[in-house]
Amino acid sequence: MSLSSSALWRIHFSRRWPIELTIPDDPILPPAERTLLCASLRQFQLGEGSDGCNLLRFARTFAARIGDADLPEAVAGLIAEEQRHSRWLALVLRTHGEPLLRRHWVDGVFRLLRRTVGFGLEVAVLVSAEVVAVPYYSAVARVSTLPSLRAICARILEDEAFHLQFQAHNLSLVVRDHFGLRHALHRALQLVIGLVVWQQHGRLLRAGGYSLASFCQECDALLLEVQRKSYASRLPCQFDSASAS
Ligand SMILES: [Fe+2]
Ligand SMILES: [Fe+2]
Repeated sequence: MSLSSSALWRIHFSRRWPIELTIPDDPILPPAERTLLCASLRQFQLGEGSDGCNLLRFARTFAARIGDADLPEAVAGLIAEEQRHSRWLALVLRTHGEPLLRRHWVDGVFRLLRRTVGFGLEVAVLVSAEVVAVPYYSAVARVSTLPSLRAICARILEDEAFHLQFQAHNLSLVVRDHFGLRHALHRALQLVIGLVVWQQHGRLLRAGGYSLASFCQECDALLLEVQRKSYASRLPCQFDSASAS
């Protein structure tokens, strides 16, 4: 039986979900590291914890329109993984006596943008957020001495690599023209989001080895790779349609 790409992604998320992460115990958080990391991590913890209601609603409407029955469940799998990232980060913050954020203007703008658009633009904004997560968690892993945080960052980066592939699949559903105006606009949006993230988290990113230029270049290269894969409509690399059926 031949499965659709969305069906393969649905299976991918269901297979990955039971793979738990063992979070190691931490020593006391050094004060300098607390100052550098915690305010920044709180924002990402909040952002990862979105309930995904609008995304799922848009995905259901879009899937019904294109006749892709597996897409909503695959999107639900993505949302569940993002929420799990948020729970892991919350655990670290709470363990070290740090309060969690209930709201932040950057998160508010992201949510507003995504709430007022359809599946297409929601995917574009999400791709940009996933792209930014890669250099961000790489920087956190390099900066932090906490075993818990390093383990969490390694796992998040592993998950995010798949998320970028999944978003390439979603992008391939909503953008049919290759390197057209939409892709150029998406690169401009990515740059704006990158600049906002640098303004908010530049200190940590700098400590993690990035300059503004290298951070923006990495984001742009990751986005171009997603756009290239969306055109090629790649399948999840862990398994092929034969092994999944
Ligand atoms: Fe995430
Ligand atoms: Fe993600």
